[in-house]
Amino acid sequence: MVGLGYVGLPLAATFAEAGVPVLGLDAVPSKVAQINVGRSYIEDVPSERLRPLTDAGLLRATTSWDDLRSVDAVLICLPTPLTEHREPDLSAVLGAAESLASRLRRGQLVVLESTTYPGTTREELAPVLERSGLVAGRDFHLAFSPERVDPGRVDWTTATTPKVVGGLTPACTQAAVELYSLACETIVPVSSPEVAEMTKLLENVFRSVNIALVNELAIVCDRMGIKVWEVIDAAATKPFGFMPFRPGPGLGGHCIPIDPFYLTWKAREYDLHTEFIELAGKVNSAMPAFCVGKVARALNSRRRAVNGSRALIFGVAYKPNVNDTRESPALRIIELLREEGAVVSYHDPHVAALPRQGLVSVELDAQTVRDHDVSVVVTDHAGIDWAMVAREAPLVVDLRNVVPDDDGKVWRL
Ligand SMILES: NC(=O)c1ccc[n+]([C@@H]2O[C@H](COP(=O)([O-])OP(=O)(O)OC[C@H]3O[C@@H](n4cnc5c(N)ncnc54)[C@H](O)[C@@H]3O)[C@@H](O)[C@H]2O)c1
Repeated sequence: MVGLGYVGLPLAATFAEAGVPVLGLDAVPSKVAQINVGRSYIEDVPSERLRPLTDAGLLRATTSWDDLRSVDAVLICLPTPLTEHREPDLSAVLGAAESLASRLRRGQLVVLESTTYPGTTREELAPVLERSGLVAGRDFHLAFSPERVDPGRVDWTTATTPKVVGGLTPACTQAAVELYSLACETIVPVSSPEVAEMTKLLENVFRSVNIALVNELAIVCDRMGIKVWEVIDAAATKPFGFMPFRPGPGLGGHCIPIDPFYLTWKAREYDLHTEFIELAGKVNSAMPAFCVGKVARALNSRRRAVNGSRALIFGVAYKPNVNDTRESPALRIIELLREEGAVVSYHDPHVAALPRQGLVSVELDAQTVRDHDVSVVVTDHAGIDWAMVAREAPLVVDLRNVVPDDDGKVWRL
């Protein structure tokens, strides 16, 4: 397993639990050291789950590429971010391929798990691996299999979520199917790596576009004085042809705000414009400003200005029950509130500190809530006593529809 992050570590643990010995490679020595003593830094894989696997010798980590000579399969789970010009940054994946090429063995299987644009496996990865002198599809197997992990989710796991695989040749697909069958319940073979790559992008574009649609509806409902949450719940009673998405303060994480733009970039090569993706990005990225506008209106209703008000943000992770703050809309909301002169604190049971913002999570008690002019629910982590917040806060702006409202002090998205 190359890359022991949110994707690689759960996948490594899943294989090890199935009795398949796993070697994990990561560039960060402290992560490797922690894994080797059974200590986890990823919430989805608690140390109690990891330790028996390392104790049994089923999971071992290394920083050395030379150790990969002995393995049968290499699964690449490395970051695929955007550059500052919002273009795909494949440097980690292609750098890894270069390191692998000089150690590649005949008969090995290489699978790319990182989200990327269609064509990456065949046009970018294969040529680098072939610097080994071995030919992809003939001397070694090559496939793409998108990771579908949803951090924080417990009803579907890496083992139970169907696994799509597309190889360069039918034999490559077959090799990948055999490998994943050792650890995953359902394998979905497709005809090419491009189909598998595009499948992952469709899944993420689907979410981005539908979230944007419901965010736009939330803004329209806000102006019309209609409760959007009630509209969605009512629409969701239709047994067919409708799937509920909820509005929110904007997109976060490593996937939904980023991956669709991999397709936008690739489509340009074909003189095509992915207008739904661009529009969804525009609507979703405007949400933090809309939400801050709502906080300003709520304060205004109490004859208060944002300037000088104390705001308590609930949840700075990008979604409930995780500690990941990458691209989190909460960070933008904090920035915008501060620009308007608010004094901002936050509470997040999963994120102890935001060093860049110079903030640490405050303890949550009735006094703290009372001491803030407005409580803003950005991420609805489990285990927070929303009834207490409703009772004690002078004013609430609830962007997640979780705070009960008894006396009209809750402003909802
Ligand atoms: N996080 C998710 O929920 C999720 C879900 C599905 C797909 N994905 C995709 O999976 C891929 C990995 O995402 P992630 O969230 O696991 O990233 P991550 O940053 O959590 O993990 C990447 C790991 O790779 C290591 N690393 C970075 N560069 C390296 C290098 N050159 N050599 C060796 N190790 C290196 C890092 O130290 C880190 O441990 C991305 O393409 C992402 O889009 C992520």
